Amino acid sequence: MLLTIETTCDETAAAIIDRDLSVRAARVASQEEVHQRFQGVVPELAARAHLERILPIVGGVFDDANIHPQEDLSAIAVATQPGLPGSLLVGLAAAKALCVALDKPLISIHHVHAHIYACQLAHGVDVFPCVGFVVSGGHTNLYNCRSASDWSYLGGTIDDAVGEAFDKVAVMLGLPYPGGPHLSRLAEAGDDRAYPLPRPMLRDRETLNLSFSGLKTAVRYKIVGTGKQDFAQTQLSEQERSDLAASFQRAAIDCIVAKAELALKQTMRQRLCVGGGVAANQLLRSELTNMGERLGCEVIVAPPELCTDNAVMGAIAWEKFAVSDFSELDIDITPGLLRA
Ligand code: KG4
Ligand code: ZN
Repeated sequence: MLLTIETTCDETAAAIIDRDLSVRAARVASQEEVHQRFQGVVPELAARAHLERILPIVGGVFDDANIHPQEDLSAIAVATQPGLPGSLLVGLAAAKALCVALDKPLISIHHVHAHIYACQLAHGVDVFPCVGFVVSGGHTNLYNCRSASDWSYLGGTIDDAVGEAFDKVAVMLGLPYPGGPHLSRLAEAGDDRAYPLPRPMLRDRETLNLSFSGLKTAVRYKIVGTGKQDFAQTQLSEQERSDLAASFQRAAIDCIVAKAELALKQTMRQRLCVGGGVAANQLLRSELTNMGERLGCEVIVAPPELCTDNAVMGAIAWEKFAVSDFSELDIDITPGLLRA
């Protein structure tokens, strides 16, 4: 069995995963209440909250799985990249300490790759090779995945991640943090053609890059105009709020689906795997499925419960275990996204 630890952003998570990828135990402690009043993740508070939660969460999965860690664990795996530095450090320090105490090897997990591996877990059979698309609060990246351990970066956002755009637009519409799920609920009663919004880089067939900051700013201008007026003073009707949410959501999803299609065509892959928090969005899921049917490609979207950050997707560490790809105990974190 593996212990997997995830602390890249604002979820403290741990899981116990068997070699056949079955999940013995999994826990996630959210920090929503810590960051809600700031309408976004405050990195230092996130690190401190991880510090409080990490040992209870790890102890909790040991209890839930009813295992004897010294005897039953083969290794301890932890996400070391990419993420918020303070958050990553807490997870890595905990993992190192456990490795020393229990005399186990350490495996480092690439968090973005793990998001795609959630598709493998759900699918039950090998999903590689595929195009991997991570759509989350911190990342919007396309990969050519030749195998579970051989990835090359194809393109991604040149500014905001799509989840970040959802969250910021949600704040403009007066919704709580994290706004993505609230925004998609508000959009249900809206007309997605009510507000014409830009779809940056959508038609640029030369690149698999995307951009969401212009779309976000366009929503702002629809609400407050181009001046410095305060959101609190704007008077949108309920219908206008829903229409704006629906129009934004449609524009963002159009951009994602178009680049997913372009990536499949460019790489000539027959399978697309999508993970990350925004992949929990029902409209995105159905539009990706429609696109797959149109192209005759297989589209696998991670199950909603494995889209947002969790430690179960850390099962990707078994791939490294199989080839004894262990890390030294002096390994450091890599907060930035290396394009691989
Ligand atoms: O994967 P995740 O938990 O964290 C990162 O690794 O970044 O993704 C969190 C993001 C947030 O921006 C959240 O608003 C968004 O995923 N999200 C959604 C939905 N559920 C979560 N966005 C749109 N629609 C949803 N249903
Ligand atoms: Zn994530």
